[in-house]
Amino acid sequence: MSLGRQCSWLLRWSWQPYMSAVTRSCVGHYATRPQRGFSSSEKLVDVAVNEETGISTVTLQRLPVNSLNLELLQELCTIFDALEKDRSRGMILTSASSTVFSAGLDILEMYKPKPDRVTAFWTTLQDTWLKLFGSSYPTVAAINGHSPAGGCLLALSCEYRVMVGPKYTIGLNETQLGIVAPKWFQYSMRNVISSRQTELALSTGQLFTTDEALKIGLIDEIATDKADAIAKAEKFLLRMSKISTTARKLAKLSCRQEPLEWLVANRQKDLQEFMGFVTLPAVQKGLDLYLESLKKKK
Ligand SMILES: CC(C)(COP(=O)(O)OP(=O)(O)OC[C@H]1O[C@@H](n2cnc3c(N)ncnc32)[C@H](O)[C@@H]1OP(=O)(O)O)[C@@H](O)C(=O)NCCC(=O)NCCS
Repeated sequence: MSLGRQCSWLLRWSWQPYMSAVTRSCVGHYATRPQRGFSSSEKLVDVAVNEETGISTVTLQRLPVNSLNLELLQELCTIFDALEKDRSRGMILTSASSTVFSAGLDILEMYKPKPDRVTAFWTTLQDTWLKLFGSSYPTVAAINGHSPAGGCLLALSCEYRVMVGPKYTIGLNETQLGIVAPKWFQYSMRNVISSRQTELALSTGQLFTTDEALKIGLIDEIATDKADAIAKAEKFLLRMSKISTTARKLAKLSCRQEPLEWLVANRQKDLQEFMGFVTLPAVQKGLDLYLESLKKKK
């Protein structure tokens, strides 16, 4: 089968119907360069589009820690759909916090969960990953703070990662909470670092410093601050813009085809496994203790 045919379902899949909930307006987010922007109604996420370069900066702004709850994930889905429909020239994902990129999944969504809400939460997380990991536009994470668990997943789903050093950490630390990163989290990490490093990182739940992350290839560059991270991200995207759009898109989606197909085919099974696991008394106890430990830090 030709590469074009192999990838055609992905391209079709990527062109999801545009979700009209995105409100668009001409908002100048930066005074120095022409921008237009749009934010979804709850404003948990901000989008600024640089009209000169066509690059969109998507900023997580559910402060203090951008923990990924249902509403934040829904907004991200809406925005990723809009970027896909707009044939975005590229996206930079970053955070409005000065110390946290994202604290990962909102533990409160999983602690004493209500069946309807937790089902919507998990399926929206699946959607978010399918849209980001399978986006036809190029993506960079400008990681300007700690990036554990789901924060790391978002960064891994992008094609390139620039992280502000040296004091922040990144990794899939789920085992430290007594939970297991599902298969598509694992795929995302294995797409970036070796199988050996992935297995070690996942079984220990290790959080890597920026230097350690750079050494194993978990991130691509270290930046001195957020502005430097954004500048490096833009440089990467401008390099991508010189490559044939179709060739670049097909190459990316071909490399990512297997994990995307896996989740599309196994969504229900993945949901059932998550629901079964998260409701186990031992897991609930673990989440309880973890929440307590976060509070005791103060
Ligand atoms: C991200 C982190 C390093 C930031 O540290 P920090 O800037 O010192 O912020 P805090 O730890 O004080 O967190 C701020 C608040 O967010 C809450 N919070 C942090 N991460 C959260 C999460 N993933 N889900 C829900 N709430 C979270 C904290 O409980 C705290 O709530 P409080 O103000 O009501 O006490 C730290 O919060 C952390 O390690 N979080 C857990 C990350 C994690 O293991 N995620 C896995 C989820 S599966």
